[in-house]
Amino acid sequence: MSVDPLAYRAAVGHFATGVAVVTCDGPHGPAGLTTNAVSSLSMEPLLLLVCFDNASRTLPAVRGAGRFAVNVLRADGEELAAVFASKRLQAEKFEAVTHRIEHGVPVLDDALAWIACDVHELVPAGDHTIGIGAVTHVWTADGDPAPLLFYRGRFGPPGA
Ligand SMILES: Cc1cc2nc3c(=O)[nH]c(=O)nc-3n(C[C@H](O)[C@H](O)[C@H](O)COP(=O)(O)O)c2cc1C
Repeated sequence: MSVDPLAYRAAVGHFATGVAVVTCDGPHGPAGLTTNAVSSLSMEPLLLLVCFDNASRTLPAVRGAGRFAVNVLRADGEELAAVFASKRLQAEKFEAVTHRIEHGVPVLDDALAWIACDVHELVPAGDHTIGIGAVTHVWTADGDPAPLLFYRGRFGPPGA
């Protein structure tokens, strides 16, 4: 039985997620893209996964860098998410945000949390590649700031 891809997209969009900008220090400076296909994978050892569109420009940069960071966005990070989901030049994307290099990966000053990883494995899967990262460093913001959410193809909590 074949499933209509749009129906699949609509159904899986009911799984609410956070939003993260995945970054790496590429050959021409920092590179990054907006993601929501991010998941914790293993506690022993510490692994997480990010699904990269094979057409994304950040995937080859991550492959080359051998490291990446998952920068979790705050509730007010919608504009930033739009910038990093665009096909602007990578340098232009990073003009929209202050960042610094920590442990060899670009981390965003406005992040709610970040997780730095070494590339453990890049597994081809359909039109995407599963990037499995071995976690090397983490940071979380103080207090109880709200995260940016993505649900049914829109930013923000249901009904917002
Ligand atoms: C909310 C949201 C979530 C996204 N999640 C992913 C994702 O998990 N993986 C991915 O490869 N692209 C994802 N994208 C699309 C990329 O951000 C987009 O293709 C981007 O232009 C890639 O940039 P690049 O080519 O500079 O790497 C998402 C976009 C949005 C708006």
